[in-house]
Amino acid sequence: MASRIEPRTGTRPRRLRVTPAALPAVVRLRGGSTVVIRRIGTGDAQALQQFFRDLSPASRYRRFLRAIRELPDDMLARFTHPDPADEAVLVASPAHAWTRIIGMAQYAAAGDSSEIAVAVADAWQRQGLGYQLLESLLNVAADAGIERIHADVLADNHAMRQLAHKLGWEIAVNPAASFLVRMTRTLAHEEYDRELGFAPRLGTPNPQRMSPVMPSAR
Ligand SMILES: CC(C)(COP(=O)(O)OP(=O)(O)OC[C@H]1O[C@@H](n2cnc3c(N)ncnc32)[C@H](O)[C@@H]1OP(=O)(O)O)[C@@H](O)C(=O)NCCC(=O)NCCS
Repeated sequence: MASRIEPRTGTRPRRLRVTPAALPAVVRLRGGSTVVIRRIGTGDAQALQQFFRDLSPASRYRRFLRAIRELPDDMLARFTHPDPADEAVLVASPAHAWTRIIGMAQYAAAGDSSEIAVAVADAWQRQGLGYQLLESLLNVAADAGIERIHADVLADNHAMRQLAHKLGWEIAVNPAASFLVRMTRTLAHEEYDRELGFAPRLGTPNPQRMSPVMPSAR
């Protein structure tokens, strides 16, 4: 009888643990509110800009690693028109107000790994939304065949460190910039990869590098 298990070859296997990313998703937060997580649309530009304007300066700084008041036009255009080949942007809205944005998570290819960023409106923090957004984003990334993700985060960003820990990410001090930590997570089946001799590739963190989810230096 023919085996249903494909013979293993030396080539990189297709993903073994794909979770279909069912979006939009309706999630209930800890405080009882119901929120919708969905892909961003081209009509979301104004709401997204308002979301970033309304963030506290501290939250904005943690998200962008610099003091900005709002998104520059080019960045707003990029975030609302992600390239489906290697980018995704998810937003969260109250279930009764889909046009309002209260959270955002995104990835964009950056070399061997995809860079991730997340932000939740201050009034909506500590209710589980950051966790839900990142979990949905990782499902979307896994569906898209992305194998490795990372985020460079301020070392004193305890909220993000705890959240990353909860999601099973590795956290390492950035030797080139001690005020940053790099969080990483492999999405491929690690044991299978190891068995075939594919070591995870962790690029050297370089804070000077152009980042697809950060504003460019001026
Ligand atoms: C980081 C951030 C996205 C977390 O969003 P959130 O919706 O508050 O997170 P959650 O409610 O899902 O929290 C999940 C877990 O993270 C940890 N956590 C979140 N906020 C925390 C805080 N202020 N202090 C300590 N731990 C915290 C907790 O372990 C929490 O689980 P618990 O509430 O069951 O203890 C949010 O604080 C934020 O937007 N910060 C500004 C932007 C930013 O720092 N982005 C990250 C760099 S790109």
